[in-house]
Amino acid sequence: MSIYDAIKADHAHHRELLARIADTSGDSAERQSAWQEFFYDVKSHAAAEEETFYSKLMSKTWGQDSARHSVEEHAEMDDLMEELNGMDMSSPGWLNKFNTLKHDYEHHMDEEEDEVFGRAREVIPEDEIEGYGQRFKARKAKELGLVDEKRADSLED
Ligand SMILES: [Fe+2]
Ligand SMILES: [Fe+2]
Repeated sequence: MSIYDAIKADHAHHRELLARIADTSGDSAERQSAWQEFFYDVKSHAAAEEETFYSKLMSKTWGQDSARHSVEEHAEMDDLMEELNGMDMSSPGWLNKFNTLKHDYEHHMDEEEDEVFGRAREVIPEDEIEGYGQRFKARKAKELGLVDEKRADSLED
């Protein structure tokens, strides 16, 4: 599987989770479990994207702006997700903030698929990114085990 397809498959899962969470209410078990699944999958997805796909795109002169833009959005998404983690799920504020995250993250995924991938295909020769789908998946699995450790580390700063 190409890295483009691997990333798209994750996005499809994330879109489904966003819709599922939007359908839940209050501090329910459904909302909690869907949120946990979303949070860990998105964190490890974004980290793996940065370490594999975006570092390759960043190495190309005409890929840098696009890569920087996406990585900045990852940081914004991170902040929103941490704010949500710190809020009471049953408060109206939680759902409001979640809806902001949903809107922003859907936009981010659309942009990656429509614009960033287009740029990447122009500036990264196909043979240079061969095997990156597998590399992305392996990195994501590793990052999944590091999510909590990295969070604890960044909260200490
Ligand atoms: Fe991303
Ligand atoms: Fe992505």
